[in-house]
Amino acid sequence: MDDKRLIATERSERRSASVVEEPKRGGGAAPSAKLDVARVRADFPILARTVHGKPLVYLDNAATTQKPQAVLDAVAAYFNEINANVHRGVHELSARATDAYEGGRERVRRFFNAASTREIIFTRNATEGINLVAHSFVKPSLREGDEVLVSAMEHHSNIVPWQIVCEMTGARLRVAPIDDAGTMRLDEFERLLGPRTRIAAITHMSNALGTIVPVREVVRIARSKNVPVLIDASQAAYHLRVDVQALDCDFLVATGHKLYGPTGIGVLYGQESRLEAMPPFLGGGDMISSVTFEKSTWNVLPYKFEAGTPHIAGAIGLHAALDYIDAIGLDAIGAHERELTAYATSVVQSIPGVRLIGTSPEKSSIVSFVMDGAHPHDIGTIVDREGVAIRTGHHCAQPVMERFGVPATARASIAMYNTREEIDALGRALHKVHEVLG
Ligand SMILES: Cc1ncc(COP(=O)(O)O)c(C=O)c1O
Repeated sequence: MDDKRLIATERSERRSASVVEEPKRGGGAAPSAKLDVARVRADFPILARTVHGKPLVYLDNAATTQKPQAVLDAVAAYFNEINANVHRGVHELSARATDAYEGGRERVRRFFNAASTREIIFTRNATEGINLVAHSFVKPSLREGDEVLVSAMEHHSNIVPWQIVCEMTGARLRVAPIDDAGTMRLDEFERLLGPRTRIAAITHMSNALGTIVPVREVVRIARSKNVPVLIDASQAAYHLRVDVQALDCDFLVATGHKLYGPTGIGVLYGQESRLEAMPPFLGGGDMISSVTFEKSTWNVLPYKFEAGTPHIAGAIGLHAALDYIDAIGLDAIGAHERELTAYATSVVQSIPGVRLIGTSPEKSSIVSFVMDGAHPHDIGTIVDREGVAIRTGHHCAQPVMERFGVPATARASIAMYNTREEIDALGRALHKVHEVLG
């Protein structure tokens, strides 16, 4: 295979057929693209398998998404045809591996509309990106009595790193509350931004509730008080268009395995002026310009923050995944998911004894719930026997569980390849749960 395919080419020709133009309706409205879900599903080999003798119904997408063939092919092609380390060899394979890895970075830049590839740092995941910002940007200037502001619906990965640096320095973690529907209280967020707030770290979309936070507004409010903002786009980025220049955020993190890409590859976006001023997070090979026993100096951006051999195959796989998403289009994906979320909400609500957790008017792709008389783990186990994969537990968001007074929830989460028939299968499985336990 021509390895140029691995570098920067659009893998869009076949994929674009997964979106069909709807006929123009009267009134001259612009045609809207509708997802051809059957064609999309054909691109995901795992969706054809069975579980416990039943067709797999995969509704655990908020934990990780399945991978299209294009991603599997790109990763295999890298290992089969150009496997070599990057940035350090003059030989042909190393040059090609470097081109492919850096092609992945350029693809990520374009996906998030960053101004420069110097602003795109590859990490292991979103968690590592947040830790990097906590330790390299916030901690060096954090003093006793300073504050870090998060929201009440953050994933543990956007809570614990801040707690660690607060504990080291005597700073305080403050929490912007959510209302009973799971919507962020912007008035309280604004009130909590004070002269000692050193960063606001806010999710774009809650993995436990599905709430979509108006992050453009969050950034505007924080900017008006000179507070830098980190946006956790781990959940949002595969459902919504995320544009870092339009958001004007200082930092943003995302994680490859939710973007239909491989595990072990994540992205930290940082405004260049911020990253330039920050010390390295991890030390080692590749992040240096020179090393003596007396002193080392740092490489230029983005390499200053990429110590050691990176996840080359991960960056290449992520490149293919972003090509795949863009060829289908986040507008079409988002519209399909919103429609399916509304349908899933009505199906789940029709089960006797169910209470939804997270009912914000601005939400998508996640239906979290509890059921009278049934522990979420038992719900998960029974529906699994029907081939339906949902998540049960605290979803790495224990403070959200506490806010709603539940130890755990059952959570169905939707991606571009899910169908109404799968939601019906979930409904049938939940009726079984009700018969057995309700
Ligand atoms: C909102 C949110 N933030 C952060 C993360 C952490 O992602 P990772 O474990 O890939 O770093 C997740 C993963 O579930 C998430 O849903």
